[in-house]
Amino acid sequence: MALSNPVVAVVGATGAVGVEFLDCLEKRQFPMKELRLLASARSKGKTMTFKGEPIVVEELTESSFKSVDIALFSAGGSISKKFGPIAVQAGAIVVDNSSAFRMDPTVPLIVPEINPEKVKEHKGIIANPNCSTIIGITPLWPIHKVNRIKRLIASTYQAASGAGAAAMAELQESTRAHLEGKSYQQKVLPHPYAFNLFSHNSKIDPATGYNEEETKMLKETRKIFGDNDIRISATCVRVPVLRAHSEALTVECERTITPDEVRAILAKAPGVKIVDDVEKNYMPMPKDASGQGDILCGRIRRDSSDPSGKSFCMFVAGDQLLKGAALNAVQIAELLVK
Ligand code: A2P
Repeated sequence: MALSNPVVAVVGATGAVGVEFLDCLEKRQFPMKELRLLASARSKGKTMTFKGEPIVVEELTESSFKSVDIALFSAGGSISKKFGPIAVQAGAIVVDNSSAFRMDPTVPLIVPEINPEKVKEHKGIIANPNCSTIIGITPLWPIHKVNRIKRLIASTYQAASGAGAAAMAELQESTRAHLEGKSYQQKVLPHPYAFNLFSHNSKIDPATGYNEEETKMLKETRKIFGDNDIRISATCVRVPVLRAHSEALTVECERTITPDEVRAILAKAPGVKIVDDVEKNYMPMPKDASGQGDILCGRIRRDSSDPSGKSFCMFVAGDQLLKGAALNAVQIAELLVK
């Protein structure tokens, strides 16, 4: 049953994604009766602005969800694990941006351009996929629908925002220190970030050699596409960019496919924009992707390593905080109020 005029709570409102939740709810004129902002005790009493009006941030507690209809969570996995079920118990539907529930078979994992129908299956919690997964597969889905994707090789160039507001500040502060010739001791990320890049800062499984981010791209794509046979190998790397992820994708389809066919499919696809100006060598860049909801797609070309003509390469860039997190979650919430 569709909700009308819900009370919405944002958990982690003061964080990098939380701030974007407010912006998306405002810009998309999400219909609601009331907005409540929740964060840690550190932020209690702080004021944030929504539609020009101040809203005081409350401390997240077990009694925060009384009469809340929709709770948008982005305060980390442990907070989701603890407070998600409490919110559901209080009667709220949780849209969770963490990885806590994504692979739970009873929890729908949704990209609204791909599998919106799954929203009906929720039992209180709906998971928002990993940002690299969303940004990579939103443009691949319309291709998969007409010519099944058998295999995907993805290399990511991931922004600081995926590690939260403190990591974004660390990138800025360490860059400033580097330019001023000062030493800088990083506090959030495991390696120096200014003028550097490093393998994604999630744990590597010694059995497979893949880190958690790479494994998420494999498992989540299979779940969202409803295709357990798609073969995926990812290499995830953190680069010194503030808020948009880029990805180099090599895609093998079941049948032959030309770059023109890929362009024609993407030209009509929701949530994507082709940026592929060969003459000017103007291609998707995180600078252009930042602040917009569409995934930019370019460098669309044949995969020269596959003479069968069934493979193509593409480079994409998408705002990690928007389509990779807040926007996708708000789009999921919109499915609940329709
Ligand atoms: P706070 O700003 O009060 O620390 P980011 O992903 O940018 O690091 O943001 C994390 C978000 O999660 C922030 O809004 C942060 O609030 C919130 N958060 C972190 N720990 C807790 C907690 N123990 N209880 C409630 N909110 C938390």
